[in-house]
Amino acid sequence: MIRDWWKKQVYKRRAKQVSDYYDNWSKKFLEITDTFQGFRTENIDETHNHTVKTAGLTDGMKILDAGCGVGGPAFYFATHLKSEIYPLTNSKVQVQIMDDRKKKEALTNIHPTLGDYHEVTTTFYPSFFDAILFLESLGHSYYPEKVIENCYRALKSGGTIYIRDHYRVSGNTEEENTKLDDLTNEANETYVYNHIYLTRLEDALKNAGFRIQMVQRPPLQFFNINPEFEKRFNIKSPNGYFIDTIEIRATKP
Ligand SMILES: C[S@@+](CC[C@H](N)C(=O)[O-])C[C@H]1O[C@@H](n2cnc3c(N)ncnc32)[C@H](O)[C@@H]1O
Repeated sequence: MIRDWWKKQVYKRRAKQVSDYYDNWSKKFLEITDTFQGFRTENIDETHNHTVKTAGLTDGMKILDAGCGVGGPAFYFATHLKSEIYPLTNSKVQVQIMDDRKKKEALTNIHPTLGDYHEVTTTFYPSFFDAILFLESLGHSYYPEKVIENCYRALKSGGTIYIRDHYRVSGNTEEENTKLDDLTNEANETYVYNHIYLTRLEDALKNAGFRIQMVQRPPLQFFNINPEFEKRFNIKSPNGYFIDTIEIRATKP
């Protein structure tokens, strides 16, 4: 009981740090891109098309984009699919940016929402969604197991969860692992992130009741956008290979 209470304090405090970070940076990042993903293709539409195909998004769905940023992917889905898109973020500034864009583009099938993805069933009805996406967003959480459990409730039976994110990797020696830990900690600090091992996510999905269908490196040609951010905003990315980008799709039976 006390453990649960304490975990809640920790993930709430982290979520507040994250929303402050995005309230502060979103308009500046938007000068470069509307899609806040490190792993991407040079033509961002290719990344979005890949998400549509790999997550199995089709017309007639209710789709939650959990941790949606300023809505780059969500607006793409709303214009290319006859589906209802629910971009969810805990940043007020991001919701404002999306509300303005929705008005400007006169779209009616996108519903920007302010909320915490740890508590998705307090914002939406249970068994509401056909698909839930996390596009480099779950990695901000200090309590991914809670997020996954609530997503399970929020999905219809037969619904899909698709998560694309970066995971910690292990080295072959103690020295290598110390170096990897240092780089990961530096990245967590810079981006208010919490890189976990993939096995932790897989366990969380299985324990919640999901059936994992696919785990792979996205078969896309990676385009590095970091130099542009570093130059413009003086953000120094950790130097070296310390994470793996993986996409995972699972279904609720
Ligand atoms: C790296 S950005 C990715 C944005 C988006 N998926 C995209 O592709 O542009 C991470 C996003 O997750 C959101 N986020 C992080 N923690 C959250 C939480 N606890 N509840 C809701 N959104 C959260 C942030 O506000 C931000 O919008």
